[in-house]
Amino acid sequence: MTKSFSALKLAEDQIADLDLQLLKRKLRVTQSPCDTKALVENRELKAFCSNDYLGLASHPEIASALAEGARKYGAGSGASHLISGHSIAHELLEKRLASFQSSHIPNAQALFFSTGYLANLTAITGLTRLAPKSNASLYSAKLNHASLIDGIRLASAQTNATVTLFDHKQLESLVEALKQDAKPLKLIVIDGVFSMDGDVAPFKELLAIAEQYDALLLVDDAHGFGVLGERGHGLLEQENIYSNRIIYIGTLGKAAGVSGAFICAQNAFIEWLIQKGRPYIYSTATPPAIAHALLKSLDIIESDEGKKRRTQLKSLIDIWQKEMNFSSWEKFSSNTPIQPVILGSNANALLAAKLLDEAGYWIPAIRPPTVPVGSSRLRITLSANHSEEDLRGLITTLQSIEELAMKNVCDE
Ligand SMILES: Cc1ncc(COP(=O)(O)O)c(C=O)c1O
Repeated sequence: MTKSFSALKLAEDQIADLDLQLLKRKLRVTQSPCDTKALVENRELKAFCSNDYLGLASHPEIASALAEGARKYGAGSGASHLISGHSIAHELLEKRLASFQSSHIPNAQALFFSTGYLANLTAITGLTRLAPKSNASLYSAKLNHASLIDGIRLASAQTNATVTLFDHKQLESLVEALKQDAKPLKLIVIDGVFSMDGDVAPFKELLAIAEQYDALLLVDDAHGFGVLGERGHGLLEQENIYSNRIIYIGTLGKAAGVSGAFICAQNAFIEWLIQKGRPYIYSTATPPAIAHALLKSLDIIESDEGKKRRTQLKSLIDIWQKEMNFSSWEKFSSNTPIQPVILGSNANALLAAKLLDEAGYWIPAIRPPTVPVGSSRLRITLSANHSEEDLRGLITTLQSIEELAMKNVCDE
């Protein structure tokens, strides 16, 4: 009895502490499909915060495919892939996903997961186990996504792999470390598009480094898949890459509008992950209906409609970059739908988010540990379903909110 109460007190104290530091997060309940207008706690808000970059999350043809998939395959998969959960819908989806990357990775094979978090955990821990007992080195960009960081921490704990962090804008330290590294497995891990800053990784330079120092290059293209490249195939298409050193991760709950993720790599790596990727082996397969819906989403991504959606997104990005001018807030020059506005302190970010909410906009404050301390921000995301008028409305509102907020400026 006493023990459980002390745990309860720990939880209550820690939560109170988060609240004091303005770091407590709050769930908000939506009552409408994910789109650029959201019904949130009985109020309609203009949303500029989801990762539904192509506006496919509420696409009627994908919703119908999901319903059709449920009628065809039922609600659940019933088991992990290696037991009995691997359906023809998963198989077709994996083939299709591999075909998206086959001009960029020789003998490309894909493996489907329920989430990107799980795909990253599986890829990093699984590949590191190719060289257990301190024989692997992991190199990770400092601003990588939490799921990559957690994959690296787990892989290092399991195998004693060394971990080196590097700044993706200054690759000299990475090169210096690789020069000294004689381990048989070297894995460089990078976000394709950085999820909080919106910049694209210097991929060609990284690949040249990986080739020179015999490393594998794992790229998490969660925010590039569907968005980048003429046909929406992602970063490798945009950069016109062909290499057998690439482990490509794409997620399917963002631009693809549904849910899930995949790893795509040369077939021997995927075969190894099927054998030894513990998060893959020990979790129930995603419902096949999701895979069926994703096939429709991939059709749309590659089609003229997908292209039109990417063109619309690009024109919104250009409008933001040209017309959004702040007098004291900082905006980044980002060529992707992720457009951060840096406000510094938690208090300033919370105040801006509150003023936006009062003006009818949904853009939550992003605070540490999601972003480094002192760089709390608004993370504005654009979707092909936004109109130019929607965006210009936001720009005008933000300009007046900046003025108002500056009168109440708080420094932490
Ligand atoms: C860069 C990046 N990688 C991986 C993930 C995890 O993907 P998922 O949401 O499918 O778990 C996310 C976001 O959630 C992300 O931003």
